[in-house]
Amino acid sequence: VTDPDALMSAVEDSQVLDFDQPIALSLNALMHFITDPHDPFAIVRRLLDPLPAGSALAINHCTPDFDPVTWNKVAEIYTSSGTPVQFRSHSDVRRFFDGLDLIEPGLCCCHRWRPAGPADGTEPTDAQIGLLAGVGIKR
Ligand SMILES: C[S@@+](CC[C@H](N)C(=O)[O-])C[C@H]1O[C@@H](n2cnc3c(N)ncnc32)[C@H](O)[C@@H]1O
Repeated sequence: VTDPDALMSAVEDSQVLDFDQPIALSLNALMHFITDPHDPFAIVRRLLDPLPAGSALAINHCTPDFDPVTWNKVAEIYTSSGTPVQFRSHSDVRRFFDGLDLIEPGLCCCHRWRPAGPADGTEPTDAQIGLLAGVGIKR
């Protein structure tokens, strides 16, 4: 994904996707592996570029927002083990959706994004989940 030109040409060459129809771009639990020197925001713009209006971007992304001590420690363990990560704040993750229409309920903790059933008291906390989720629609 750090070579989005090669990625998109492979996708186009495969002729699996119909670029005349809306396409869902799912980047779940991926972009926190792409640190700022790789310009993750430019990568996402490049991946969205050939998609027609009405296409959707779905992202979930680790964040330290709800429990900085724990999640900064998780990031440190990943990085020191050879897998660099960059967990981002709500405002930084929101930037992936710039220029898109973010649909309800917006960018929120993952388990709060359209939960399948009513709350039954067994839900995890935001601090335990540590993931932001959102879906944006291309104009
Ligand atoms: C936590 S998994 C999520 C997998 C899948 N998106 C899902 O929701 O089940 C993270 C994935 O990111 C992939 N990944 C990490 N760095 C990557 C990179 N630079 N390019 C492409 N994939 C990468 C890993 O191989 C792994 O499959």
